[in-house]
Amino acid sequence: MAASSHTLCAPGLDELPALLALLADCALPVADIEAAHLPGFLICRDEGRLIATAGLQPCGETVLLRSLAVAAHCRQRGLAAQLLAALEQRALADGHRQIFLLTTSAQDFFSARGFRLLPRSAVPPGITATAQFRCLCPASAACMVKILDGALARESAA
Ligand SMILES: CC(C)(COP(=O)(O)OP(=O)(O)OC[C@H]1O[C@@H](n2cnc3c(N)ncnc32)[C@H](O)[C@@H]1OP(=O)(O)O)[C@@H](O)C(=O)NCCC(=O)NCCS
Repeated sequence: MAASSHTLCAPGLDELPALLALLADCALPVADIEAAHLPGFLICRDEGRLIATAGLQPCGETVLLRSLAVAAHCRQRGLAAQLLAALEQRALADGHRQIFLLTTSAQDFFSARGFRLLPRSAVPPGITATAQFRCLCPASAACMVKILDGALARESAA
């Protein structure tokens, strides 16, 4: 697989089991993900196998980035960064000016890409109402936010 610029696409409905398996392999929550969420996801395949994914979950007036996962043998090739940039562009196109996430495992990855920590008390109600916030992510999960800048997001996705 090339070191950069992978082809990203929407998952097919029949790919839900493979997507959930990848997330489970990466120790990410799967309990609240169902077929209706798939349009918010992007995936990358390699020789027909799903190797990376991430999704946007609309939450009231805002949006949660979730389920960023890259198969262990495909890491360090820029896939996560490419998925993140593509979803930031999508969020901007949908009219969002900021994007939230919860993470227990990759705070430094997101800090390096413009996210900053947010106290749980400052997280908007749309996000606190999600299953991820309420029960799937432990209270120790970091809440992070990024203010989206249209010009910057287009540059990093190029
Ligand atoms: C985090 C993850 C998505 C990164 O995927 P990736 O395709 O290897 O990432 P990229 O190739 O785009 O970026 C690699 C860079 O991120 C850094 N990085 C990777 N995983 C990291 C982590 N968990 N924490 C901090 N930094 C991390 C690498 O050190 C590398 O840094 P460098 O560019 O300075 O060398 C992948 O490790 C993964 O699936 N982890 C398990 C699931 C997870 O923790 N998801 C995030 C929470 S939703």
